[in-house]
Amino acid sequence: MSKQLQFKLVLLGESAVGKSSLVLRFVKDQFDDYRESTIGAAFLTQTVTLDDGTVVKFEIWDTAGQERYKSLAPMYYRNANCAVVVYDITQSASLEKARNWIRELQRQADPSIIIALCGNKSDLAARRQVSQEEAQKYAEEEGLMWAETSAKTGEGVSEIFTAIAKKLPTTAAPSSRAGAGGRTGAAGGRSGVDLNRQQNAVSTNEPCNC
Ligand code: GTP
Ligand code: MG
Repeated sequence: MSKQLQFKLVLLGESAVGKSSLVLRFVKDQFDDYRESTIGAAFLTQTVTLDDGTVVKFEIWDTAGQERYKSLAPMYYRNANCAVVVYDITQSASLEKARNWIRELQRQADPSIIIALCGNKSDLAARRQVSQEEAQKYAEEEGLMWAETSAKTGEGVSEIFTAIAKKLPTTAAPSSRAGAGGRTGAAGGRSGVDLNRQQNAVSTNEPCNC
């Protein structure tokens, strides 16, 4: 029987960078030109099947980027296995916000969290304010995964989630940051399946608000 793993993924980033749109593309392969800003957070799931047959189920918390929801974020990134921190390549200020989120995750989230920095709206490259070189250099310095995506065209979207899925089970291997007394398999580690997982005790939007 193929291995099944379950991971908690949180999306963070400034309002309007396209977090919900990325999730909508990944989960339903759809895109809306006019999306309502997320209230609180939305919860969705999606699975990815890896080449070796491993099924990775993502439990996705799509957070609200508006400043007034900022204090809720720790509830969503606490115990997250992975975080996708999104900026908009046409708004350099959104990369600054992303850096702030990354600093906060590095300080407050689980030390084994996998962080992917995602430059969204690559279809608007003509209005680019953030160069690929700048973002990639920063990601390398901080040890983050990095990719550009377009929720609108779908470019790079499934790839970034698949890349995270491939990276996740290996984080529980002895060679990872598990350190001394490393683990023998994903299911035994912090990153693996938690069959008794807790749901966050907060109200969320309906799943369709993604
Ligand atoms: P909050 O929920 O407020 O945090 O915003 P968000 O990050 O979830 O942004 P959302 O997905 O709602 O997208 C904001 C706007 O950007 C919407 O009008 C989307 O249609 C648009 N958008 C999202 N992704 C893309 C993209 O890849 N390309 C283009 N051109 N527009 C996009
Ligand atoms: Mg949203």
